[in-house]
Amino acid sequence: MIASNPASAPAKTILFGEHAVVYRQPAIAVPIAGLRAFAEAAPNQNGLRITAADLDIPVNVDTETVDHALALTARLVLKFLNASPPDVTINIRSDIPIASGLGSGAAVSTALARALCDVLGQQIDDTDLNTLIYEVEKIHHGTPSGIDNTVIVYERPVYFIRDQPLETLMIGQPFTLLIGDTGQSASTRAAVAGVRDLYERDPQRVQPMLDAIGEIVRHARSAIEHGDLAALGKLMQRNHDLLRDLTVSSPELDTLVAAAAKAGALGAKLSGGGRGGNMIALVMPELREQVEAALLDAGAVHIYTTEVG
Ligand code: MEV
Repeated sequence: MIASNPASAPAKTILFGEHAVVYRQPAIAVPIAGLRAFAEAAPNQNGLRITAADLDIPVNVDTETVDHALALTARLVLKFLNASPPDVTINIRSDIPIASGLGSGAAVSTALARALCDVLGQQIDDTDLNTLIYEVEKIHHGTPSGIDNTVIVYERPVYFIRDQPLETLMIGQPFTLLIGDTGQSASTRAAVAGVRDLYERDPQRVQPMLDAIGEIVRHARSAIEHGDLAALGKLMQRNHDLLRDLTVSSPELDTLVAAAAKAGALGAKLSGGGRGGNMIALVMPELREQVEAALLDAGAVHIYTTEVG
């Protein structure tokens, strides 16, 4: 069955706890509903194909070789549903910048999986889809915590601890985030490996830093639930400082974070894998334009806005 609307999935941003979440500390992430990946199927006569800008791949169901993340996504869906590949071309398009900490890989795979389910007239519930997309995430990130696929598949704010049941996050008072893009693509896999290296070389120094991030995340959850935005902003700043100590910031990220704070943001920090990619700033609506202008002045190549709650 060819659906009339494209299937889709949102981008995500991590508010607190990236990197430490890999070491089983809690983290908080929210979907960005306005920034999405889409997948749309059209009939063809030559088996299952996946296309995107600069990409046209046939899906070979008889291989165990990990070739392309999108081919793997399709194979996992077919295997889960015990289905044969349909004669369709699924075209992917995405507004989410790649390699920038916004979950582009997980969003594209999730949209593709949903479009394929639609074509087959079958459903995979979010719990199973999340497990499936996590398998694909391993291609992108090596040893992912699972937070990206979880927030993207469920499309709701999450308080996430690796391998624990998902906890929903209540939002006491809606708030506005600006997402500032440094324009530098960055490999999450490399940043995670960098922190691993640091940890293995000096666990006595690094473990307390990870514990301190975990403590910040617990306080942040309470601040979000109580609508205490001033406290939330301060916690963002402390989280950023610890991420910098973990070597995952960059001069550009530090510049954008400082510019946002100077222009009146309640707090700012890098978001996601770091070493490039994006930062976030918590702003009161009346200062939004001012902070946005300061971020552009300080070198942001793109600004996205999202309302949380
Ligand atoms: C990437 O969006 C978040 C990291 O914590 C990696 C992960 O959780 O898998 C850096």
